[in-house]
Amino acid sequence: MSCQKITVSTASASSTGYAVLIEDSSYPWEYLSKLHEKFRKEKKQVALITDSNMKRCYKAALDELRDEGWPILAIAAGEGHKNAATKEKIETFLFKNKITRSSTVVALGGGVVGDLVGFVAATFMRGISWQSLPSSIVAMVDASIGGKTGIDTPFGKNLVGSFHNPKEVYISLALLSTLREKEYRNGFAEVAKHALIADRALYQFLKKNIENIQRRDMKTLQAIVRKNVLIKKNVVTEDERESGLRRILNFGHTVGHGLEWLSAFKLSHGEAVSIGMAAEAYFSYKLGLLSHADFQRIVELLSCLGLRASMPAWSHGKIPEPYKACLLDKKASASVFCFSAIQSIGRMHAAGGEYLLHLERRQFLLLMRDFCGQLPFAKT
Ligand SMILES: NC(=O)c1ccc[n+]([C@@H]2O[C@H](COP(=O)([O-])OP(=O)(O)OC[C@H]3O[C@@H](n4cnc5c(N)ncnc54)[C@H](O)[C@@H]3O)[C@@H](O)[C@H]2O)c1
Repeated sequence: MSCQKITVSTASASSTGYAVLIEDSSYPWEYLSKLHEKFRKEKKQVALITDSNMKRCYKAALDELRDEGWPILAIAAGEGHKNAATKEKIETFLFKNKITRSSTVVALGGGVVGDLVGFVAATFMRGISWQSLPSSIVAMVDASIGGKTGIDTPFGKNLVGSFHNPKEVYISLALLSTLREKEYRNGFAEVAKHALIADRALYQFLKKNIENIQRRDMKTLQAIVRKNVLIKKNVVTEDERESGLRRILNFGHTVGHGLEWLSAFKLSHGEAVSIGMAAEAYFSYKLGLLSHADFQRIVELLSCLGLRASMPAWSHGKIPEPYKACLLDKKASASVFCFSAIQSIGRMHAAGGEYLLHLERRQFLLLMRDFCGQLPFAKT
């Protein structure tokens, strides 16, 4: 039973930065009660936004918080609701609950709730403070750190958003007990990404602890979440606005986002990023930047974590399509495919300080075709 604290300082965060608290065994209810009491004494209004799955899993605790005076809104769960309509719903709820510029809004949920609430907070009355209580692996190790907020649009994912750091992040690992197996497993795509881009020791730790990960061993999870928060913190501290180093966090995401879009979001983000990492690692190998042994190790790690490393069968015959889909990516330009190449496990390729490689359409299509031949299509 312990709580660890990591401080994230960036140019735009306050001079003291913001704290990320990692609590291994208790649920966040006491923390939320105390928070409400603190704001009540300061005569400041607060509101809590969560989603329908969290409400179902933690109904009794949330009812108690509501009885204590927390205004609580549970938005419909899922990526399909990370949009302008839900943003407006949250804003209406905040207005009705007399949220003002001195108020704080709290996000309790996965990356969808965090991205939405952070974005609402960034623009509501030109910016109010918010706190993040991430409840999924993705949100704990990735989405809650770094201040990126936003929503999806019919034109692509995360295309409207803002940078707005939370005031505090409180990670309660106990919440992971109710996360569905598929969501839990998919979250490890981001964990694997952090190991591959920045930390070979984490890669080795993951390989050694596959069984502990599968049975959600608390000590193992605490070590993994802590390490991931530190990795993300180091990257975003150095490059808050994604002009350089932060691009390495996009490893696997250019192909991944394209596949996610192409599957009409039937492929989850984690599944798509995992295939994307295998593909982009393969491109790196074919371009002479990564050894074949490390490429194989990457594919093996993804498989051990129960993640996909090959293209799904439905994408067969649609090879040019991922290319078009990848062009929807914010980093792509009209005809060039951009991605962050990997040099070895734990290290990304930087050419002249740039962590972005540009491939012409033809070169991308050849590499993609080759990748599909290298790793046969998965059945589903
Ligand atoms: N801002 C960033 O830097 C950043 C980084 C990575 C991902 N993201 C975003 O995060 C989102 C993906 O995050 P996600 O995978 O958490 O998605 P999510 O919020 O949709 O959560 C996944 C599912 O798990 C459920 N869930 C979450 N926590 C639970 C718990 N403790 N118990 C039971 N059910 C729970 C949710 O209701 C949902 O159905 C994407 O929208 C992605 O764009 C943002």
